Amino acid sequence: MFKVKIDGIETEAAPETTILEVANRELVEIPTLCFNDNVEPRGACRICTVEVEIWGRKRLVTACNYPIRGDIVIDTKSEKVMKLRRLILEVLLARTPKSERIQELAKKYGVSQPRFTVEKTDDKCIVCGLCVQVCRDIVGVSALSLSERGILRKPETPFDEASSTCIGCGSCVYICPTDAVTMIDKDGKRFFPRWKTEFKLVKCESCDNLFMTDAQIKYLKKVMGKDDPCLHYCPNCLALFKK
Ligand code: SF4
Ligand code: SF4
Ligand code: FES
Repeated sequence: MFKVKIDGIETEAAPETTILEVANRELVEIPTLCFNDNVEPRGACRICTVEVEIWGRKRLVTACNYPIRGDIVIDTKSEKVMKLRRLILEVLLARTPKSERIQELAKKYGVSQPRFTVEKTDDKCIVCGLCVQVCRDIVGVSALSLSERGILRKPETPFDEASSTCIGCGSCVYICPTDAVTMIDKDGKRFFPRWKTEFKLVKCESCDNLFMTDAQIKYLKKVMGKDDPCLHYCPNCLALFKK
């Protein structure tokens, strides 16, 4: 175990524990955007940056993916940290002025008017890449990728057209930290405006609730290598059958 001091709190951590894990355990708040427990942390947004001191040397690191590999002193609210956090929020606020999540964080850290040109856009995407990661690493279909470079970088389907590999599972909607991906279930169909993709919803054979897309059922059948009750009945009915 290594000795850890975080915002004055003395504790211990096993090798490879991340700073964010220690902070959560000790109830020290560190803001996150691109971090989600279900996928590998990439340190993309840098909002979780903290200042660490190792062997007497100080540096800024991202808490969500920094593994503890020795005794360490962590300051989550140093002057440098707060300055950087505010700068990141200024950039994000200028880029996604309609994002409630970013507005909320900006307010919390005292950022009101960004010094950068505020874009005239309704897009709430902060290009964190979580939708791309979940689709590739958890769902396993890689329907999305981050295209272009710099300011034009964004998540999209190949050629920004309706994807032939997307199965309409909605994982990208649930994981997006800023609600930049939406999913509309209407008239027996599921539509993803951002991905320009539409699916037919299938009814549970017991309660008639629309519970999955036809593409999801086809994909799961292939992955499981068999037809299975979970492809015919919704989770609620399956739970009732098991009782
Ligand atoms: S809805 Fe489509 S793009 Fe989104 S995670 Fe599922 S398969 Fe990927
Ligand atoms: S759509 Fe959401 S999850 Fe995807 S990159 Fe943008 S902010 Fe991140
Ligand atoms: S939450 Fe750590 S870099 Fe985004």
